[in-house]
Amino acid sequence: MTVLVTGGTGYIGSHTCVVLLENGYDVVAVDDLSNSSEEALRRVEKITGRSLTFYKADVCDGSALDRIFEAHKIDCVIHFAGMKAVGESVVKPLEYYGNNLGSTIELLKAMRRHGCGSVIFSSSATVYGSENEYPYRETMKKGTCSNPYGWTKSMSEQIFTDAAKADPELSVVLLRYFNPIGAHESGLIGEDPCGIPNNLMPFITQVAVGKRKELTVFGGDYDTPDGTCRRDYIHVMDLADGHVKAIEYAMSHKGTEVFNLGTGVPYSVLEIIHAFEKANDIKIPYSIGARRDGDLPEFWADAEKARTILGWHTVHSLEDMCRDSWNWQKNNPNGYER
Ligand code: NAD
Ligand code: WQD
Repeated sequence: MTVLVTGGTGYIGSHTCVVLLENGYDVVAVDDLSNSSEEALRRVEKITGRSLTFYKADVCDGSALDRIFEAHKIDCVIHFAGMKAVGESVVKPLEYYGNNLGSTIELLKAMRRHGCGSVIFSSSATVYGSENEYPYRETMKKGTCSNPYGWTKSMSEQIFTDAAKADPELSVVLLRYFNPIGAHESGLIGEDPCGIPNNLMPFITQVAVGKRKELTVFGGDYDTPDGTCRRDYIHVMDLADGHVKAIEYAMSHKGTEVFNLGTGVPYSVLEIIHAFEKANDIKIPYSIGARRDGDLPEFWADAEKARTILGWHTVHSLEDMCRDSWNWQKNNPNGYER
């Protein structure tokens, strides 16, 4: 069975390619390399001992997609490709709507032209907005997103849902990721953000490797147990496994289904710092700074639906997440050197 992975050279895409190849799937990856390096796929091949096919192309380009679908019989698509920086999306909303919605629409049209009926979409916990109580459940109404990036996820979910309503042959699985961190245990692939990291774990690992002086904790006066924000961090290899389960589900069902992919357990920023220090025996200098605009005090997943319906559960601990994030960063202080 052949899976087309859009955004396949990216952080989550590359880890998912490993799990797909290890599970016997053939993989065709497409990426425009706007936020990643092809080197990631060479390393995926090294880890798995299997090869995959790569196309450098923009998923918003329907004729480029046609060429890929003509060259391969694609059974299922995983759509990771997209721009994901929350702050940047506030400054460049049109680029975010254009790219993230454009790629979703062009992909669905190409799938229809070529008779491909199964797709998994990378959505986000951000679609629950600020109105919902945690833990977040899939039965909750989606909320108001605090930035254009979040809206592109919420709107893409709607586009997929409507497309599946109109086409009884289409099967859509919407996966709402919580906070992916960690890396493959080999340390060969991992998260390689451009410039100053926006997310917590890459910032911590860059402090650990000496690229940044200290971490600023965004707010210490939240109404949480230690005053810092709490999130549901999930190991990227657990997340990648969830995609294999989602493919199995998509191939045997029609219509749209949505699943949270999280552990169901929240950790605070201070807990993450201290777990990282303990797992790796490294001190992380930090200071408590101002709150970051748009941050919610806390949220985490109700992970029951994915457990009962997909038969998926997480196996990696917070210690694994901290150890594997550091193993990647220390072996690749400059990421893929792009
Ligand atoms: P990433 O930036 O590492 O990967 C996304 C990839 O998509 C990049 O390689 C980029 O070059 C590519 N891309 C962007 N636009 C493209 C286009 N038009 N055509 C072809 N390729 C394009 O990000 P990631 O962390 O691996 O995230 C993967 C997906 O998961 C994204 O859709 C993201 O929004 C979503 N997601 C990520 C997180 C997270 O915290 N990392 C959380 C929830 C959801
Ligand atoms: C985690 C916690 C920060 C950096 C974002 C997106 C979300 C999803 C995942 C894609 C927060 C704190 C961070 C730092 C800090 N992405 N922090 N100092 O904000 O939960 O989610 O990524 O869909 O949509 O919003 O993740 O890693 O940025 O932050 O104190 O230098 O770490 O305030 O509490 P977040 P994050």
